[in-house]
Amino acid sequence: MEKLEAIQNELKQILSEKRYLHSVGAMKKAEELAKIYGIDIEKAKLAALTHDIAKEMPKEEMLAYVQQNSIPINEIEQEQLGLLHGKIGADIVKKKYGFSEDMQKAIEYHTTGSIQMDTLAKIVFIADKTEETRDYDNVEEVRELACQNLERCMLYLLNDVIKKNVKKEKLIALESIELRNQILIKLANAEKI
Ligand SMILES: [Fe+2]
Ligand SMILES: [Fe+2]
Repeated sequence: MEKLEAIQNELKQILSEKRYLHSVGAMKKAEELAKIYGIDIEKAKLAALTHDIAKEMPKEEMLAYVQQNSIPINEIEQEQLGLLHGKIGADIVKKKYGFSEDMQKAIEYHTTGSIQMDTLAKIVFIADKTEETRDYDNVEEVRELACQNLERCMLYLLNDVIKKNVKKEKLIALESIELRNQILIKLANAEKI
């Protein structure tokens, strides 16, 4: 059986139906974006398919996992354990499926973003938020933006999550702020040329 198909079957066992369909949707969206932006399609599909592999792990299990596997966690993750599913997922796909480092990083960064993101990571991040089962105000606008300009789409999504967290008085991951600053500076410099 093909690797992708085997992993897809495994995820069907691990995840709830809703999360499984979200994962398959992310895979399809990542394929579409990988073609537009000219990156490895197989890598994009596999990373997007598995990005939430650890999402439904109970909180206690997450804590035990990071301890047992020596994964460092920061103050914000300590408060919002749900964020850890990115780091844990990246560790699982490395050990279980032997995914390459760029694929691991794409999974790790899909929760908060990071200034270390490459095109693959950005595509996985965006595919997660724009796949076919997602439904929120402006989702169509974001889908269009994703096809036109990856950086502007990232900026839109980061603005959105930061605004939501401010409204709910929730912590904001520093990685999201750093990435937003990096993109704003990059876009401003591009306009000067
Ligand atoms: Fe996730
Ligand atoms: Fe997701």
